[in-house]
Amino acid sequence: MKQLDNMKAPFFSILSLSLLLFLSLPSPSLSERCNPTDKKVLLQIKQALGNPYLLASWNPENDCCDWYCVECDPTTNRINALTIFSGQISGQIPAAVGDLPYLETLIFRKLSNLTGHIPPAIAKLSHLKMIRLSWTNLSGPVPSFFSQLKNLTFLDLSFNDLTGSIPPSLSQLHNLGAIHLDRNKLTGSIPESFGKFTGSVPDLYLSHNQLTGPVPKSLGDLNFTTIDFSRNKLVGDLSFLFGSNKTIQIVDFSRNMFAFDLSKEQVSNRARFARNRGRNTPAVAGNGDGTALGLHRKVGEDSWGDGLTWACFN
Ligand SMILES: *[C@@H]1O[C@H](CO)[C@@H](O)[C@H](O)[C@H]1NC(C)=O
Ligand SMILES: *[C@@H]1O[C@H](CO)[C@@H](O)[C@H](O)[C@H]1NC(C)=O
Ligand SMILES: *[C@@H]1O[C@H](CO)[C@@H](O)[C@H](O)[C@H]1NC(C)=O
Ligand SMILES: *[C@@H]1O[C@H](CO)[C@@H](O)[C@H](O)[C@H]1NC(C)=O
Ligand SMILES: *[C@@H]1O[C@H](CO)[C@@H](O)[C@H](O)[C@H]1NC(C)=O
Repeated sequence: MKQLDNMKAPFFSILSLSLLLFLSLPSPSLSERCNPTDKKVLLQIKQALGNPYLLASWNPENDCCDWYCVECDPTTNRINALTIFSGQISGQIPAAVGDLPYLETLIFRKLSNLTGHIPPAIAKLSHLKMIRLSWTNLSGPVPSFFSQLKNLTFLDLSFNDLTGSIPPSLSQLHNLGAIHLDRNKLTGSIPESFGKFTGSVPDLYLSHNQLTGPVPKSLGDLNFTTIDFSRNKLVGDLSFLFGSNKTIQIVDFSRNMFAFDLSKEQVSNRARFARNRGRNTPAVAGNGDGTALGLHRKVGEDSWGDGLTWACFN
């Protein structure tokens, strides 16, 4: 017993001595949460963006979990959010963003001098839940690689200069709550596959583009909540989106070239129609005044759908 005590004593003093040494080391690593690989990548991103003032807090001397515009996961300390918003940023989205493998949120927003294409490196970010590249001057196509990011719940590419057609593969995303592709220069038609989302049925915002053709009938197979197709060049019928079966609540189909007969939809006489910008050419009957329809609110008791609270057609 005595022997054991004698052995313990020097052991503890060595332990406390090394602990003391350890605590007094000047290294920042002791309290720094930041993952060194993430820090290196963030500094590459900063450099690629020309060391903008917005990222002045990205100082290599400090813990990157304390930097502005980023967030660290509280348990793993890996960077899980990069939010670059409204600053003097010029250039392209750095490919290095693809090297932050635990990103769940990626936002570049309100940066009018952000140009170029959406980089393929984003396809590596398998944990992404929210991507928002909006109010920038990004051009090029909407990449089809977004369909690989299975955990995406929110895809916003609105207010850019994107061209080309909408990738049909976006319907392979099962957790999407909303797709915002509005205010671009997209052409082609709305994919047939947008009537085949499995899992959640996203709100669709496709307004202010140059989309053509009819809206695919397949969209009638799903219960959408919100659809905004306004200001495109869409044609044809839309009645299949309405009916007692449907839960659609908010629609805007204004400024297109739709033509359909709402009388078949038994629009209630009490439905109020306001505004008539006359851009669509609807064959309307049954709404009393024979005018083309416009804004249509709170149609609770007709057969368009029990939940419809807001609709606009012209
Ligand atoms: C965009 O770039 C132009 C020309 O270089 C510059 O004058 C302007 O201040 C920049 N705007 C922003 C928001 O960075
Ligand atoms: C895109 O750049 C042009 C000038 O090149 C500018 O006029 C426009 O405002 C920019 N777009 C956005 C969304 O800021
Ligand atoms: C996707 O989300 C699920 C549920 O939140 C999670 O278990 C899974 O790990 C996520 N996958 C990726 C690649 O982040
Ligand atoms: C849409 O919702 C209504 C009301 O909840 C339901 O009766 C109908 O079966 C649903 N249709 C589809 C295709 O899920
Ligand atoms: C209602 O929805 C079901 C599928 O959920 C469909 O088979 C049926 O034709 C629909 N009925 C009407 C009147 O739209």
